[in-house]
Amino acid sequence: MQILKTALAVGLTAQVANAGLHAAAKSKNLLYFGTATDNPELSNSAYVTQLNNTADFGQITPGNSQKWDTTEPSQGQFSYEKGDVVADLAEANGQKLRCHNLVWHQQVPGWVSSGSWTNETLSAVLKNHITNVVKHYKGKCYAWDVVNEALNDDGSFRDSIWYKTIGEEYIPIAFEAAAAADPDTKLYYNDYSIEWSSDKATAAQNIVKNLQARNIKVDGVGLQAHFTVGQTPPRKDLASNLKSFTALGVEVAYTEVDVRMKTPATEANLQKQKTEFGDIVGSCVDVEGCVGVTIWDYTDKYSWVPSTFEGYGAACPWDEDLQKKPAYDGILSVLGGSASSSSSASATAAPTPVSTFATAVKQATTTQAVVSETPAQKSVEPEQPEQPEDEDEFCDA
Ligand code: G3I
Repeated sequence: MQILKTALAVGLTAQVANAGLHAAAKSKNLLYFGTATDNPELSNSAYVTQLNNTADFGQITPGNSQKWDTTEPSQGQFSYEKGDVVADLAEANGQKLRCHNLVWHQQVPGWVSSGSWTNETLSAVLKNHITNVVKHYKGKCYAWDVVNEALNDDGSFRDSIWYKTIGEEYIPIAFEAAAAADPDTKLYYNDYSIEWSSDKATAAQNIVKNLQARNIKVDGVGLQAHFTVGQTPPRKDLASNLKSFTALGVEVAYTEVDVRMKTPATEANLQKQKTEFGDIVGSCVDVEGCVGVTIWDYTDKYSWVPSTFEGYGAACPWDEDLQKKPAYDGILSVLGGSASSSSSASATAAPTPVSTFATAVKQATTTQAVVSETPAQKSVEPEQPEQPEDEDEFCDA
């Protein structure tokens, strides 16, 4: 199967010279290359022009507007206006929508975080939220990030309101509610620092195994891939880690890729970033069952990084002036496209159609397997916010 996939990809490579990132990704039998976006930046017409460029982006993720504090700001009062703006934009462009997210410890409204809940009442609130939101977007989402960032770095469960009140059972409750509300969307567990072999990656695999052991629908794992220049694991290690997930019978995707660096950016770091973006995307190409890559916004202008990691930024493939950086060519090159000449912002033709055989190859790897292993007992640690690492350290230690 891998030989045929490779042969097919070689055959299509010649057709994608100068193609965009999504068109080139499809030629390598990925389903999509995409980007996150957010509502405030949709008032910038130059930004939107590039967002609408379906040669580069075949998939969109709303960065904030489907989260709980936006969709159910008061109990039982659902608000879909902002999320719908992004969903409608993706639909108008024919771009896949990755829906994000249903259960998280952040961006939870006050009525949830400061309510007095029992296991029973919070479980009911959780089910009601998921049922409403997933039904609203029924038929529109390629996938939902059902549970986001449930784990600490040591692989124990994060001490969120969900875990404190319901215990780890909140995870199966969430997946069951999502499956009941839209049986046709893919249901993902999504987290960061699971992109290399580690206790946290093992714990994420155990979440999948535990759901499968109970015949609860789980289709994929999203690996966020928020990296720092100099610390991105090599392509072969990234691919090997992806395979430890796909071996469970689920698909995988990189869902929030960026590669930050100390600012101001140096030419040396921009070149390292080019290689590292290439390694991340290349590792997805290397693995049957890796369906796509999403960057966590395409431009440094709207990146979350500088406001979270002081002194860091320049994490995206386009700079603050919406000009392509070397990272763009690093991605395009591993996807078999030829280097761009910089600058962007013109909407171009639809991507090269992928063959039905290629689609079948990808789909054949995503059949759900049921395994009987149960997760290891986890100790509960206080929440560890993500911190910038020392640039000289390799994170795969
Ligand atoms: O909406 C309010 C606005 O009313 C207010 O005026 C403004 C003042 O700061 O804040 C606005 O809320 C901000 C929100 O984004 C929407 O723009 C929050 O302060 C800000 O903290 C929030 O940041 C988002 C972050 O998640 C929340 O933790 C980022 O934009 C978003 O990119 C980021 O995305 C997460 C993924 O969902 C999960 N993985 C990690 C990733 C990066 O943190």
